[in-house]
Amino acid sequence: MKFPSPIWMHVKSFLILILLSVVCGQDRKITSKLNPGCNTCSAETTLVYVRCDGSADSIHQIWDFTRHLPTVIFTIASLNSTLNVTWDGKTPKSFALSEKPHYSFATAIDKLYEYNDLDDNGFIVPKYPQHEYSLSKVIWHLNESRFADKEVMVYLNGFIDDERIRGIINIKLDLIPFKDYATDLPHLIHTANSTLFDISLTNLTTRSHYNASRFALHLLMISTDHVTDTMHFTMRKSLDDEHTPGVFEIIEIKTPSLYSTGEGGYLQFRPVGYTQPERGVASSTVAHVSDFNRTTLPYRSTLRLFYGGSDIADLLVQDMFVSFGENGDGFYKQHNYTAWSFTIGYGTPPVEKFSLFVIMIISIGLGVPLALALSGIVYVVLRRYRQRSITRFTNED
Ligand SMILES: *[C@@H]1O[C@H](CO)[C@@H](O)[C@H](O)[C@H]1NC(C)=O
Ligand SMILES: *[C@@H]1O[C@H](CO)[C@@H](O)[C@H](O)[C@H]1NC(C)=O
Ligand SMILES: *[C@@H]1O[C@H](CO)[C@@H](O)[C@H](O)[C@H]1NC(C)=O
Ligand SMILES: *[C@@H]1O[C@H](CO)[C@@H](O)[C@H](O)[C@H]1NC(C)=O
Ligand SMILES: *[C@@H]1O[C@H](CO)[C@@H](O)[C@H](O)[C@H]1NC(C)=O
Ligand SMILES: *[C@@H]1O[C@H](CO)[C@@H](O)[C@H](O)[C@H]1NC(C)=O
Ligand SMILES: *[C@@H]1O[C@H](CO)[C@@H](O)[C@H](O)[C@H]1NC(C)=O
Ligand SMILES: *[C@@H]1O[C@H](CO)[C@@H](O)[C@H](O)[C@H]1NC(C)=O
Repeated sequence: MKFPSPIWMHVKSFLILILLSVVCGQDRKITSKLNPGCNTCSAETTLVYVRCDGSADSIHQIWDFTRHLPTVIFTIASLNSTLNVTWDGKTPKSFALSEKPHYSFATAIDKLYEYNDLDDNGFIVPKYPQHEYSLSKVIWHLNESRFADKEVMVYLNGFIDDERIRGIINIKLDLIPFKDYATDLPHLIHTANSTLFDISLTNLTTRSHYNASRFALHLLMISTDHVTDTMHFTMRKSLDDEHTPGVFEIIEIKTPSLYSTGEGGYLQFRPVGYTQPERGVASSTVAHVSDFNRTTLPYRSTLRLFYGGSDIADLLVQDMFVSFGENGDGFYKQHNYTAWSFTIGYGTPPVEKFSLFVIMIISIGLGVPLALALSGIVYVVLRRYRQRSITRFTNED
């Protein structure tokens, strides 16, 4: 082939990708443990430690619910490094990493906001009446788990039972150490360097004097970049919506280190949520992301315990809201259910490739007209040729 057509370039990069992953062994070796070193822990205590050994470094992941705020911490250090947890009864007392890490970043959901969406826009703005609920009183119960070398997964039911609000918050964390699309919508891409985070808000009661209640998640983002730096919000269009019908945008929140050097922490998601447990186009809604703000680590949190040893004053801590809904959808009470997913990962965020199916469709799309055009030309040429020989024949006759 003479000119590099887009398809050929994709096929080529696809082949190179396969080669690379075979040669470099992109995947990581996984070891995991529930409540490591804890003798008194029960199903009401969930702290997962996952160690992911690559060819050059180890990622230590902590998934914590013991201090009630769902928290995921990534720490990157050498292959020799170890991370130990000591306990004070059923809560972690210290995290000891054997060396100074190369990098660390984390995310946590510390609060839920209920707001009265007077303009029926979906997104939360300061002028709406609103009320915050700390997740520090949620009781987390481990419902299902898997600790294997091909998958680490926990599914928790969180019960919130305040005098103001009652309901269930379910969270699933899932690490599958190779690159592929997740089985559930919105089919985010997981890699050996990332973890899927899925959250649903089920049957939450709403405030009686709010007639347009919606809920927003308050997310914290932390990284060991400089305190005056900032996270970066990017939105790109995907090549096609094959994996998430109707949604072409991909949102990435990059730590300063990723933004400037091409390697660091990220959150990746689609601006879509679901209003029913059966996910599909019909049950999808819009997920809105607010601007970032600077904040501090929550008091008595696992985050503060983890980063307390290092220089807390030089830690980047920012927050944002993710809110759900769109005009005319009947607000939260229409379904009493909202679900949303993101991935948290290290390295560079994965980009979606044309699948074999799409490549085939494009090939057929280009190939059929081409074949038709060619056969048309051949037909015309043949006809001319035959007519000419017939004319010659009759002339001679
Ligand atoms: C890991 O430990 C071994 C033996 O103690 C040492 O030779 C090696 O240099 C260490 N590697 C790193 C990356 O620190
Ligand atoms: C963690 O525990 C292991 C085994 O008990 C020990 O060899 C290692 O030195 C400990 N690491 C730290 C950082 O305390
Ligand atoms: C697990 O969670 C589901 C809801 O997602 C619930 O129906 C079921 O009862 C839970 N099982 C246990 C053992 O808690
Ligand atoms: C939420 O409420 C509905 C209707 O009352 C009920 O059918 C459903 O089982 C509840 N879901 C959970 C997870 O409790
Ligand atoms: C909610 O109440 C306010 C004033 O009380 C009213 O302006 C608004 O239209 C109501 N919204 C809905 C969706 O009923
Ligand atoms: C950002 O933080 C300031 C000070 O804490 C606060 O007044 C403001 O409302 C915050 N903005 C958002 C969008 O959260
Ligand atoms: C949602 O819950 C409210 C009570 O909190 C109830 O009035 C409403 O009917 C529920 N909606 C659905 C679709 O179950
Ligand atoms: C995973 O992280 C390593 C660096 O620790 C990087 O070299 C590799 O490209 C990353 N893999 C993916 C799939 O992001």
